[in-house]
Amino acid sequence: MEPGLQRRVQRYGWDKASAYYETFWHRQLKPAQDLLLDMADLRPGENVLDVACGTGLVSFQALTKLGNDGRLVGTDISEKMIEKASSFAEHKKEYRVKFERMDAEDLKLKDGSFDVVLCALGLMYMPNPQKALEEMHRVLMPGGRAVIVVWGQRDHCGWSDIFEIVDQHVASEVCPMFFNLGNPNILELNFKAAGFSAIRVKRITTLLSYNDSREALGAAFEGGPVALAYNKFNEDVKKDVHAAYLSSIDQFRKGEGYEVPGEFVLAIGIR
Ligand SMILES: C[S@@+](CC[C@H](N)C(=O)[O-])C[C@H]1O[C@@H](n2cnc3c(N)ncnc32)[C@H](O)[C@@H]1O
Repeated sequence: MEPGLQRRVQRYGWDKASAYYETFWHRQLKPAQDLLLDMADLRPGENVLDVACGTGLVSFQALTKLGNDGRLVGTDISEKMIEKASSFAEHKKEYRVKFERMDAEDLKLKDGSFDVVLCALGLMYMPNPQKALEEMHRVLMPGGRAVIVVWGQRDHCGWSDIFEIVDQHVASEVCPMFFNLGNPNILELNFKAAGFSAIRVKRITTLLSYNDSREALGAAFEGGPVALAYNKFNEDVKKDVHAAYLSSIDQFRKGEGYEVPGEFVLAIGIR
């Protein structure tokens, strides 16, 4: 896909998803976000960048480790995500954080200005993840660390048919290389190529638990990356894609609900 188009699909798709994101994804992504923060081992006074911060789920958790002198900048390509994160910060009277709309491949931030860069479940959506990692490397000070989590291998993610199902009804693919970073060694190779050393990788499995089909559909279509395409579908197409998605996860049905397997890959590297 043409990179500019992919960025627009992401930007305006996540604008649409922002109102539903936490409802459908907070609980499901917590194990990956918690492990990311464990690996980051943040210390009081550190200066942290959270790339593709969304509504700030990781940013606000990170701030609890940074003491009075720590600072955090959160960046995301979606204006609406940044608005939400900023309004949470205002509501919490949290003045150690600043949120700004920014493309991860073109960070408007100074070289060597952060101790730590975090990026939770954002790198898969970027047209050139390697470029984004190079940007993270550039803004880290020497010795600084980048910690990233992405979704794992396609055949370890039971919900993976979602992209194909949506792509059958839209002219362009929503997320062409989504699962590439989850393949064995790929994240590590990308870290190396971006200049990181002392790289460590962890792979964990998870279960996405939905109480009913409404929850499974909301997470897949309203709260995630296909939201832009989905919002353009008429009611008949929506019914078709719902049926196709539920049939693709039927093997994971548990009573009224679903327990869909998933996998996350985490990596840490030092500048
Ligand atoms: C699944 S959400 C993750 C949000 C947050 N990190 C969390 O863990 O809850 C993915 C985020 O990536 C952002 N994103 C996608 N492409 C991006 C890009 N090129 N630059 C910056 N952010 C991007 C989206 O706008 C969205 O907010």
